[in-house]
Amino acid sequence: MDIYKFIKPAIFSTDPEKAHSIAISGIKLGLHPIDTEKSSNVLSQNIINLSFDNPIGMAAGFDKNGEVPNELLKMGFGFVEVGTVTPRPQEGNPKPRIFRLEEAEGMINRLGFNSKGAEKVKLKLKNRQRIGVLGVNIGANKDSDNMMEDYIYGLKTFYKIADYITINISSPNTPNLRKLQQKQNIRELLNLISAEKPINCNLPILLKISPDINQTELSDIIEAAIDSKIDGLIISNTTIDKSMVGKIKNSHQDGGLSGKPLFNLSTRLLAKAYTISEGKIPLIGVGGIANGYDAFLKIKAGASLIQLYTGLVFQGPHVAINIKKELSTLLKEQGFNSIKEIVGIESKNYK
Ligand SMILES: Cc1cc2nc3c(=O)[nH]c(=O)nc-3n(C[C@H](O)[C@H](O)[C@H](O)COP(=O)(O)O)c2cc1C
Repeated sequence: MDIYKFIKPAIFSTDPEKAHSIAISGIKLGLHPIDTEKSSNVLSQNIINLSFDNPIGMAAGFDKNGEVPNELLKMGFGFVEVGTVTPRPQEGNPKPRIFRLEEAEGMINRLGFNSKGAEKVKLKLKNRQRIGVLGVNIGANKDSDNMMEDYIYGLKTFYKIADYITINISSPNTPNLRKLQQKQNIRELLNLISAEKPINCNLPILLKISPDINQTELSDIIEAAIDSKIDGLIISNTTIDKSMVGKIKNSHQDGGLSGKPLFNLSTRLLAKAYTISEGKIPLIGVGGIANGYDAFLKIKAGASLIQLYTGLVFQGPHVAINIKKELSTLLKEQGFNSIKEIVGIESKNYK
């Protein structure tokens, strides 16, 4: 029985950031479901040089400081992305800075990269048991003199610890960060990163992008990513477009919108990226996934892997276990034997 239905009202009567700290503490205490079922073979795959038990990932932002990655893996996630981690510790924006949009099953956050800093997070992750795929998402300090150097610092700090690194240039809450997505800047940054990667180092590097870009910007990013041999794109971060949430409670808050209201925007961008890149670069679909059918749609739009955060808040801690079941049932019912068979098959249906 899913007891989340009964405890959700109490959680939702608590300030969202407090509720998040309570959730992390609860997980540390072992008060979380454990996925005891081996993933069905249809869900496992080898991609970006890594072996995934299932395609459902914990998106960045939930475990910013690397406190509970193995526990999240035990909850059924096929991979976990820790971060965003900044080189130096920083507080982030003043509170309150996370808001629930209950009617829309969305959230707005303007955390602004609150981080304990790279050294502390490295210490947390250094001796962890490797029981599944761990990504580290790196970013820049708000008061950085040179944001590009911050990414090099993050890469150097985590390249031996992480199974993959995500370059996050798409948070809307750090002034000027999204400018790194512009044509010249992205090329410069990716060249610096490629140059910094030790020779023969196969560490996959992913780039996380914003849903608030136009088709030309998307094409430029894809071209730069392919040229500099980036291993994949994560599509997408939160949006600053609030037009889809009208005037419901909290919709006026500044920050990035996530959850169900982001699903269409992020899926459309994902499908466009698949079409433009002709499937040449692996894509990770994020934005508004709450169940197996949402995951199925993202994969058919072009995602080889998916991630979620807001779905965990609204659906509860069984979300990964449930999506695994629902997704493998959908695949089998429709006669598919692997995820690869459906990646991008509906990408052309999105305008
Ligand atoms: C409270 C909160 C904090 C987040 N922090 C980060 C972050 O630090 N770095 C990042 O790349 N994305 C961050 N995200 C974005 C998520 O990783 C994800 O891209 C976005 O929320 C869309 O997925 P969802 O609709 O499943 O939540 C955050 C999202 C939320 C809701």
